[in-house]
Amino acid sequence: MKALILVGGYGTRLRPLTFKCPKPLVEFANKPILMHQIEALVKVGVQEIILAINYQPDTMKEQINKLQDLYKVKIICSQETEPLGTAGPIRLAKDHIIKDNPEGLFFVLNSDIICEFPLDKLLQFHKQHNHEGTIFVNEVDDPSKYGVILADETGRIKDFIEKPQEFISNKINSGLYLFNVSMIDRIPLKPTSIEREIFPIMAKEGQLYQYILPGFWKDVGQPKDYLAGTVLILESYKTHTPDVLAKGNNIVGNVLIDASAQIDPNAVIGPNVIIGPDCQVKEGVRLKNCVLLKGVIINANSWINESIIGWSSTIGKWVRIEGVSVCGEDVQVKDEVYINQSFILPHRGITSNIYNKNTVI
Ligand code: GDD
Ligand code: MG
Repeated sequence: MKALILVGGYGTRLRPLTFKCPKPLVEFANKPILMHQIEALVKVGVQEIILAINYQPDTMKEQINKLQDLYKVKIICSQETEPLGTAGPIRLAKDHIIKDNPEGLFFVLNSDIICEFPLDKLLQFHKQHNHEGTIFVNEVDDPSKYGVILADETGRIKDFIEKPQEFISNKINSGLYLFNVSMIDRIPLKPTSIEREIFPIMAKEGQLYQYILPGFWKDVGQPKDYLAGTVLILESYKTHTPDVLAKGNNIVGNVLIDASAQIDPNAVIGPNVIIGPDCQVKEGVRLKNCVLLKGVIINANSWINESIIGWSSTIGKWVRIEGVSVCGEDVQVKDEVYINQSFILPHRGITSNIYNKNTVI
């Protein structure tokens, strides 16, 4: 079996983190988003993974050898010379997908999706209904930024509407699919949207089914959703693998801390905090609902809430950062500064307070 991961797209909504690396390589729960997906694909028996790329290809290619060795799976890049959208890359990679694929099936994943990846269930259901495609579907409160699905009681999709203006249903496309290879011939070799141009036709022809995704799901391609996804994955770890979570008198609720991080026993951490490798958290620090990526230093008595601190950033003493703020790589924040609802570009030094909403500095 094969899989194609849609790795392209500029990841603009996850800036300033995506100034450093493409979205799939940004760590989520201390490993690149892409690694969560590759792990799940290998587990369900996928032998070859095609990364459909169009952005920072050199950064992607560097990672591939590492991932191949780690997961003992063949990983190849299919590189577009112009962005081909969400369907065009499948057509471009046709030869790779059909070669040595006796089952004639392939998974397609959006690269910014995090869930428990119960791909075995998707596979089982797809084989049962025996039509061209199955989409993992889940329910959200606000479906307006997703693909919305209308299906009958057997799971057959009757209509697919991408980002509808009006409320139609709260069942949405999770961005995880399983297809028969015959589906590839529906796609022309030019920029094509699978959601707008291919799914509506497959639905009309009765070739598309939905399968309700068990467990949590989140598109983590925007800072607010990335933080919400953090809450969900930590809760999932608590249910399935509680031993990975941190324990201690200074730990509140669900917290994940890399073994190489140094945490002062007088810092209070949690709930919903993830601390990456080589981080240092000093005395009196208070962390809640936040993520520290690799190599971050938080100096004494600072408070971080609802924010993401990028790689190798240093936060001074008595600093307060909140309101879905995001620091890019190597940001230096001076002592006693207040930052609210702001995005700080990589390598910046912040020496005065930022109160205003959506400031990008
Ligand atoms: N190779 C390649 N080339 N990949 C692309 C391109 C391209 O030109 N354009 C987008 N992608 C990739 C993105 O990197 C991402 O992994 C995936 O295609 C979907 O693009 P997004 O930009 O993240 O779309 P979205 O989040 O607005 O909507 C999609 O995901 C929702 C679930 O999160 C749609 O599939 C919706 O229907 C769905 O509900
Ligand atoms: Mg997305």
